[in-house]
Amino acid sequence: MKIMIAGDYQEMSSIAANIIAEEIKKKPDLVLGLATGSTPLGTYRELVRMYKEGKLDFSRVITFNLDEYYGLSPTDPRSYHYYMYTNFFNHVNIKPENIHIPDGMAKDVEEECRRYDEQIQKAGGIDLQLLGIGVNGHIGFNEPGDELLTNTHLTNLAPDTIKANARFFESIDEVPRKAITVGLGTIMKARKIILLASGREKAKIMAELLDEDAVSTKVPASFLLLHRDVTVLMDKEAANIYLKKKDGCCGTVGV
Ligand code: F6R
Repeated sequence: MKIMIAGDYQEMSSIAANIIAEEIKKKPDLVLGLATGSTPLGTYRELVRMYKEGKLDFSRVITFNLDEYYGLSPTDPRSYHYYMYTNFFNHVNIKPENIHIPDGMAKDVEEECRRYDEQIQKAGGIDLQLLGIGVNGHIGFNEPGDELLTNTHLTNLAPDTIKANARFFESIDEVPRKAITVGLGTIMKARKIILLASGREKAKIMAELLDEDAVSTKVPASFLLLHRDVTVLMDKEAANIYLKKKDGCCGTVGV
């Protein structure tokens, strides 16, 4: 596991975008796994900038998003479909047929999950997976519990997640209780993974994750310790507790 600590959110975002850009340059038909939420917004902004400056071409890139709220339509401004198009897809030259996001309105959810896994498999699996992390250690919407599922599935969102994501809704009651998420197996099969963490509310979970030498279904992100090619990229605020524990003080590990 490679650990990188950026001075601030902007620096973290440009490092992440540069890693993604390099991978696209090496493999123009890269299969890119994407996350939503606050953390990757700056990365998407940077990727859009690189595209607009003529430095990056998404015409052959294939994307698979990690998750979508169950019951929200793609046109709902709070859906992850809407987020992805407004923050990223509408601003780059990705082909619509190369974009994949689980359908939160699917009548037959099991079939939708099967179809999604099949599409990922047909594309050859994920080359590069971008991840955020929940305050409870979730990745995608693989929430802490007694077991973790490997394939795409409908999941109940944890109370911590509902609380954290209420900021995107008018009230906590409006936050969907369920989501379709890729499973941990799909994430772990990605050839390369970047885990982003930003802000002080992530400091506790990052310290817990990076201090541990054990994996547990209670901290789904801990399974990343078993992966061969993970870059953990945090800003200083998210790294704060980890750094204090590590150095007995508050030093900074540069990037
Ligand atoms: C989103 C996703 C989630 C988020 C996580 C952090 O597609 O899969 O795991 O990455 O909840 O969200 P933010 O970045 O909003 O703190």
